[in-house]
Amino acid sequence: MSQVPKLQQQDFPLLFELGAPGLSALNLSECDVPRADRAKAVPRELLADAPPPLPEVGELDLVRHYTRLAHRCFSIDENFYPLGSCTMKYNPRINERVAAMPGFAALHPHQDESDVQGTLELLYRLRCDLAEISGLSEVTLQPAAGAHGEMTGLMIINAYHKSRGQRRGKVLAPDSAHGTNPATCAVCGQSAITVKSRKDGRIDLDDLRAKVDDDVAALMITNPNTVGIFDDRIADAAEILHARGAQLYLDGANMNAILGITRPGDFGVDVMHFNTHKTFSTPHGGGGPGAGPVGVADHLRPFLPVPQVVKRADGSFGWDADRPKSIGKVRSFFGQIGVLVRAYVYIRSNGSDGLRDISEKAVLNANYLAAKLKHRFRTPFPPPYAHEFIMMPEFPGSEVTDLDVAKRLIDHGIHPPTMSFPIAHCLMVEPTETESKATLDRFVAAMLDIADEVERTPAVVREAPHLMPVKRMDEVGAARKPVVRWRADRGA
Ligand SMILES: Cc1ncc(COP(=O)(O)O)c(C=O)c1O
Repeated sequence: MSQVPKLQQQDFPLLFELGAPGLSALNLSECDVPRADRAKAVPRELLADAPPPLPEVGELDLVRHYTRLAHRCFSIDENFYPLGSCTMKYNPRINERVAAMPGFAALHPHQDESDVQGTLELLYRLRCDLAEISGLSEVTLQPAAGAHGEMTGLMIINAYHKSRGQRRGKVLAPDSAHGTNPATCAVCGQSAITVKSRKDGRIDLDDLRAKVDDDVAALMITNPNTVGIFDDRIADAAEILHARGAQLYLDGANMNAILGITRPGDFGVDVMHFNTHKTFSTPHGGGGPGAGPVGVADHLRPFLPVPQVVKRADGSFGWDADRPKSIGKVRSFFGQIGVLVRAYVYIRSNGSDGLRDISEKAVLNANYLAAKLKHRFRTPFPPPYAHEFIMMPEFPGSEVTDLDVAKRLIDHGIHPPTMSFPIAHCLMVEPTETESKATLDRFVAAMLDIADEVERTPAVVREAPHLMPVKRMDEVGAARKPVVRWRADRGA
């Protein structure tokens, strides 16, 4: 059953527990310049009494140690990673190759514009491509992540209201909103008001109508949302908002489901952010790296951050900071250039048909999995789904929880889906378009195997994982009181 490589299953000593005094991974030739007198070169009070207790290991042991550690990391390159709301797709190697080219990787942000014309052209083309993909008027590439894009977008909306002599204190968001949406409202000094969803996962337009007043700056909505449902009445929501002068903000983190199929600008969106690191590839997880470009409709262009990358009348490229109503700069220098290079290569190497194909396959894969699993795992929202879906691992009388099922999947070599978001005790599954039918079938088999196991031997599921050197962790303790430094006196 297990697809977990042997190397991942084994425990091994810390680097500090390896080796022996005198061993070294370095083999330097004799020093041929006079040795400096440490006592003279460094003030007494800065000298340590004893050398630090660093590990002393040979080169091969060092290499093996780090190789084993590398095998401990779960990655998309190794196995299936259906982590809902994260779009853990394969990242084509060509993106890495191009991003690592010295002409991109070795640039200094203070270099003169004339030295970096190629990079500026790429950034300019990328912002135009993203505008076309979104159906919006102009895009800024500055924000460094999705949440940062949300903040930038809301600042733009607030600057727009201010330019009309208004300060609007409320932002609406559906109950299925990603946690970063209400957090963004708080960062911008506004209160987030929840709008109810209907049983089918779509926003309740009557509740929206009742809640939109002259103090509402915007509705922040993710579409398709985090339960994997595309809200096909989004244009009606836009009308309701616009009638009261409020704006429609699209959290575009789930664009992987609609590329080339529909465009936010065409369904009434005023501002949106992209998660390039989800939709347009870039290895991510663990907090970065990413980029959250923001697109706006025509009336919001004057408020975009500066500097903006532009193409001048003479055909050269440069930075333009002449936008008097701009919200200013939201990031040091010009954005996460390496991630933006990857996004550009990804968009260009797929082309417009390729982008549409990506979304069609992402949607097909999610619906295939849901159809194969629904007889054993309840799906609280009716299909069809977009790029992801949620299902409930409910096993009355067995005391097996969503957490147990997730842990048991690790023994199958599969990364657990997102748990308990956006509803308690659910599993949110996002297979992405890059997985083959064989991999999807392996996931189905693993889930059904676990469901059978719950009936036969529930304790096996409750005590999983069985093949990992570390079993159940104190996750709260690990986050609140992390032990990140080895100390000789603690031995760990
Ligand atoms: C729907 C949604 N909104 C916002 C974000 C936040 O993006 P980031 O993690 O880049 O800040 C995510 C992240 O996955 C997301 O799924």
